[in-house]
Amino acid sequence: MSDEFLLYGANGFVGEVIARLAVQRGLKPTLAGRNAARVQALAQELGRPSRVFRLDDSSGMDKALREVPVVLNCAGPYVNTATPMVDGCLRTGTHYLDLSGGIVDYEAIAARDAEAKAKQVMLLPGVGFDVVPTDGLALHLKERLPSATHLRLAFCLRGPSKLPPGTLNTILDGMTRYKPGAIVRRNGQLESVPPEWREVDFGKGPVRVVRSIWGDVFSSFYSTGIPNMEEYIGYSEQQVRQMGSLRKLGPLLKLPFVQNYIRRQVPTGPTAEERAQARTLVWGEVEDDRGHKAVSRLCGPEGGVTWTSVTAVAAVQKVLEGHAPPGYQTPAKAYGPDFGLECEGVTREDDN
Ligand SMILES: NC(=O)c1ccc[n+]([C@@H]2O[C@H](COP(=O)([O-])OP(=O)(O)OC[C@H]3O[C@@H](n4cnc5c(N)ncnc54)[C@H](OP(=O)(O)O)[C@@H]3O)[C@@H](O)[C@H]2O)c1
Repeated sequence: MSDEFLLYGANGFVGEVIARLAVQRGLKPTLAGRNAARVQALAQELGRPSRVFRLDDSSGMDKALREVPVVLNCAGPYVNTATPMVDGCLRTGTHYLDLSGGIVDYEAIAARDAEAKAKQVMLLPGVGFDVVPTDGLALHLKERLPSATHLRLAFCLRGPSKLPPGTLNTILDGMTRYKPGAIVRRNGQLESVPPEWREVDFGKGPVRVVRSIWGDVFSSFYSTGIPNMEEYIGYSEQQVRQMGSLRKLGPLLKLPFVQNYIRRQVPTGPTAEERAQARTLVWGEVEDDRGHKAVSRLCGPEGGVTWTSVTAVAAVQKVLEGHAPPGYQTPAKAYGPDFGLECEGVTREDDN
């Protein structure tokens, strides 16, 4: 087994955490990105080689991709970075992994399924907290209730709740891209619906969660075939009001100075200490036409950085061990419902 892979966007907040974890686990990442000074400084510190190329430099990209069996793309927003990197992977026969979580990101990659199968290349987006834990839980629930027709997922964070900087960018991008409210799947089709509050028991009593837009609405259909799906997030009412106020800015939200102003107001970049204090709780429920239900829960580390890093590195390891089914994949389709449980600190429980 080769331990070498390309880590693009290595100088980003999450990319750097992943680079350090991968080296700790004995993997051999080549650190890559477009910012020569930052990528090379990190590579030197970790004793790893570096490659510097922009995503519009296809010859530089192809040269770097040809050296490895797999790339983990940590450069986002993925609306800008996934397509050129997937193009490069299909040209060079390199497996593709990323941390995307947006419905549009998954749609764009799933549309390359036939090309990827023809080239024997795996395209597996979403190997971070979006969507490894929830996707695995969805398939686990489907296995518990094979007749399921409806799937509901929810998650919330307990403890210090700063976002990684790239996630804030993705949320801001989503506000300009999607209608306010939520996206659900009904009878196999994606549909915009209003947000809706409900209570979910993550294991210690009811918590209010709001129906939202999350990548599982797209990917869980591929993993489970369940035609109706909605996802809820444990935002506070204050956070929902703040997001509502931001949305009122409309197209102004795309202006760099507006985004920079928002970034200064919203704390991002959780420290290692803050992450160690946080836990992420995940809840899932399936139901069939006869009213039979099954509920399962996960408890794991802080989601945006810690959980994301361990699942991303675990996915790289799977590919390096030769597990890379060709075509568009979801984490659960590629690696089964228990893949997320291989990460330390993650537990799952089933209601009877
Ligand atoms: N799946 C999950 O659960 C999960 C969790 C955390 C983060 N994420 C996603 O992961 C991504 C990175 O997050 P982060 O917090 O690490 O963000 P970050 O600190 O802002 O880093 C972004 C990285 O992407 C690079 N980049 C951005 N646009 C690029 C482009 N057009 N071409 C080449 N490189 C580009 C940046 O390079 P420069 O330094 O050169 O600008 C930097 O290396 C985001 O999209 C975020 O939404 C997903």
